[in-house]
Amino acid sequence: MKAKILYVEDNELNRLLVRRLLEPHGYIVIEAVDGISGVKIAEQEVPDLILMDINLPLMDGHAATTRIKSLERLANVPIVAVTTHAMEGDRERSLIAGCDGYIRKPIDVETFPKQIERYLKGDRERVEDDGGEAYYKEYSVKLVNKLQKHIEELELKTQLVEKQSKEMQEAYLGIILSFVHAVEEKHAYTAGHSARVRAYSLKIGEKLHLSLEEMENLTQGALLHDIGKLVVEISSLRNVDRLSSEEWEEMKKHPEIGYRILKPIKFLSGLINIVHQHHERWDGSGYPQGLVGDQIDFLASIVAVADSYDAMTTNRGYNQVLDIDDAKKEFKKCSGTFYNPIVIDAFLEVLDEMKNRKASRTASAVEPD
Ligand SMILES: [Fe+2]
Repeated sequence: MKAKILYVEDNELNRLLVRRLLEPHGYIVIEAVDGISGVKIAEQEVPDLILMDINLPLMDGHAATTRIKSLERLANVPIVAVTTHAMEGDRERSLIAGCDGYIRKPIDVETFPKQIERYLKGDRERVEDDGGEAYYKEYSVKLVNKLQKHIEELELKTQLVEKQSKEMQEAYLGIILSFVHAVEEKHAYTAGHSARVRAYSLKIGEKLHLSLEEMENLTQGALLHDIGKLVVEISSLRNVDRLSSEEWEEMKKHPEIGYRILKPIKFLSGLINIVHQHHERWDGSGYPQGLVGDQIDFLASIVAVADSYDAMTTNRGYNQVLDIDDAKKEFKKCSGTFYNPIVIDAFLEVLDEMKNRKASRTASAVEPD
């Protein structure tokens, strides 16, 4: 059976090196990046050998070793300290902490696999017993157990704080959204606009296989994209088809205003560019910054397409309402000029699916029972 080796090491290059040295010899190498996760993974995996860096974040290698050795089912798993020799007595300290061996960094690539084989076969290093070792060992076990308990309590408290802050964020967001809805619902042509923009944006996001975090930002960003209109003169919003040049200039401020409203809210930092840049255009003809191509935030370029589609397909009193085919033609025409071509390719697929669903709904409605 292949021996399973856990390497607890925060340095990625060292982890890579050890994997490259040991895997060709048939060992299974698993990894942990700090002392606390090292103890946890050791408990879960019960490896045949543990290689332990000493200078580790959260809990150092000596404390992690002492903790592991105090657990009944892991007490006999050999632990070898792999560390840079920093000061006199490092080896002895590692062995008193419970390590069964000591390998100095930089690792000697020639001898390393042989050393590992020897430890796996039962080779153990011990310090000369001066009578104090047992006492120090017991003392350090007690200290480490106390430390572990503190860390666990701290983890629980952190989880609680995170949960409460998430709830507060949701409540906060709920209040902001209520304002957005209140403004939208005042005018028939914008009622439900941000909810529809969210729905189209998410469909595009799914097609583009966005990450969970990006989808979350897209959801909230699409809902909040026009929040700056809260401050724009209401008469401008009502008569959007007959704006004077001054009113139009006023209207064009809403992305910048929205950006300024949301900027102090830290937990919304991932979506602030959506609000700021949803009227930017691929060829640089948009506003407020006149960004070009990839300078435009990718999520903002998704919301730009969804926003335009909703404007094309809802009756705003002054526009010709387009059907899906006409909208498709419009987007194809403006791909690479107004809109990001990658987003348009994804959205054309979304529109085809919407059209097919619509057609099958109509067909089933006329089918005889
Ligand atoms: Fe807008």
